[in-house]
Amino acid sequence: MNILGINAYHGNASAALVCDGQLVAAVEEERFNRVKYAAGFPAQAIRYCLKEAGLNLHDIDHVAVPRNPWARLGTKLLYALRMPAFARERLRVMAKFTGIREALVLAFDADPGKIRAQFHRIEHHQAHLASSFFVSPHDRAAALSADGLGDFASTMWACGEGSRMRIGGAVTFPHSLGLYYTAVTQFLGFLKYGDEYKVMGLAAYGHPEHADVFREIVQANGMGFRLGLDYFTHQRTGPEMSWAEADKTPVLGRLYSEKMAERLGPARQSEEPVEARHRNLAASLQKRLEDAYLGMLRTLHAKTGAKAVCLAGGVAFNCVANGKIFENTPFEQVYVQPAAGDGGLSLGAAFYVCHQLLGRPRRFVMDHAYWGPGYSGERMRTAIEAAGLARSGYRLRELPEEELARAAARIVAEGKILGWFQGRAEWGPRALGNRSIVADPRRPEMKDVLNRRIKHREPFRPFAPSILAEATGEYFEKSHPSPFMTLAYAVRGEKRAAIPAPTHVDGTGRLQTVSREANPRYWRLIREFGNVTGVPVVLNTSFNDNEPIVCRPEEAMDCFLRTQMDALALGDFLIEKS
Ligand SMILES: [Fe+2]
Repeated sequence: MNILGINAYHGNASAALVCDGQLVAAVEEERFNRVKYAAGFPAQAIRYCLKEAGLNLHDIDHVAVPRNPWARLGTKLLYALRMPAFARERLRVMAKFTGIREALVLAFDADPGKIRAQFHRIEHHQAHLASSFFVSPHDRAAALSADGLGDFASTMWACGEGSRMRIGGAVTFPHSLGLYYTAVTQFLGFLKYGDEYKVMGLAAYGHPEHADVFREIVQANGMGFRLGLDYFTHQRTGPEMSWAEADKTPVLGRLYSEKMAERLGPARQSEEPVEARHRNLAASLQKRLEDAYLGMLRTLHAKTGAKAVCLAGGVAFNCVANGKIFENTPFEQVYVQPAAGDGGLSLGAAFYVCHQLLGRPRRFVMDHAYWGPGYSGERMRTAIEAAGLARSGYRLRELPEEELARAAARIVAEGKILGWFQGRAEWGPRALGNRSIVADPRRPEMKDVLNRRIKHREPFRPFAPSILAEATGEYFEKSHPSPFMTLAYAVRGEKRAAIPAPTHVDGTGRLQTVSREANPRYWRLIREFGNVTGVPVVLNTSFNDNEPIVCRPEEAMDCFLRTQMDALALGDFLIEKS
């Protein structure tokens, strides 16, 4: 039985294909159309998933779409009367949604009569919850989804057991932890879709000195919370999101009201320098999010008695808050799949149909992230030849895996910057050792070097460490696995000097624990680096420069030559500047 999940006309458009209960492929459209967070219809992602499975559109039995126009219809209508502009935008998106079948027919030039798939509409947060629980290793777990807004809710929780989830409740519009975080992110002058990540990094540099005001902005109450709506505009105008258009990064209108400036001082303009005041606001924002989030998790634990919790939604990318779950709640296990945000909705919708609707038993655990496109050695050779390296002073070698890892590890240990392109692309926004840039974590200057030469990111944003799973407890104060970089832990005091480059200012690291089973090649690279240096950790950042992570070998070659990387391991090929 083949189930295709499609997240369309929404940020992080994506597709996922589940065949007989097993995930076969999952990818976001941005990797193909090269537009970050691309919305629109994910035709290329769908085409790739079908190709990976050797299927065509006529072989699909079920199509799962993570939006349900009927969910909270009363509330939607009520707000539509109050906010006509918002309602118009929603209607435009809705019109596109009802045409998913037509969009498929058009994109694939298919015979409509031959499409036998049954179409399902799955509520946004139920798809989020399913994207985590149904692919987790846990037979029984609590589940929490928290984000900006989807089907007029921002938060939902459930208890999952076997192939069923029982929904416990939801927090509905206009109360939203995601919109809260985005509003203050905008107030701090970071206006682009997805900038919340930057502010989370900034928060570590400040003190939460505005705790009193932030307790008014987010009022926690047991399993839920309320926003102090005077501080916001979205409840009056609707959050102005434009993501019906294909091939565009979504844009969000302003969410905070004048009251925020009255209580917290003037908003920062994006070109103004970041000062102590801004750092303290970021810290206050993060602290209040953690209070509300961890409070909800404690209540969820009390309600479910589960040992494990499965998280999803944009808020579940807050690795700093996630890292605090173990100390601040009784949960012993935390699972967050790599596309916890809206990209993961296609995956969640497909698994929701498989288990919750059709009652099929679970037989899949997502224990690695490599569900995107991979390329043959021949294709890589062609990309290298097309780039004309031989003429421009590069050394090219083709090496067996062991030797490649050893040579690459030596390059990194010398302080050089290595592009590492292997196997199938990662699912979700983090590079996890298949489309990564790797550098020496022991050199304190490496962060600035990377920023100056390649990444051009704000200086306050941290880089992440990848560590051999078996060495986690030696370097970090916790050893619970974090295979998808969704948890940040404190680096052990005595080890901070050993890995200064990926250790954040507050002494934490947003780590990736790398097991031999999940990614043997990357594991081998890190082990060889450990053999040379005594430190089984590398600095890992995504293979890109202000663009979606590279997907094809041609993009890797292009990024390698455009930026100032020293070496590139492209499959079995090792390319070095000579
Ligand atoms: Fe969402």
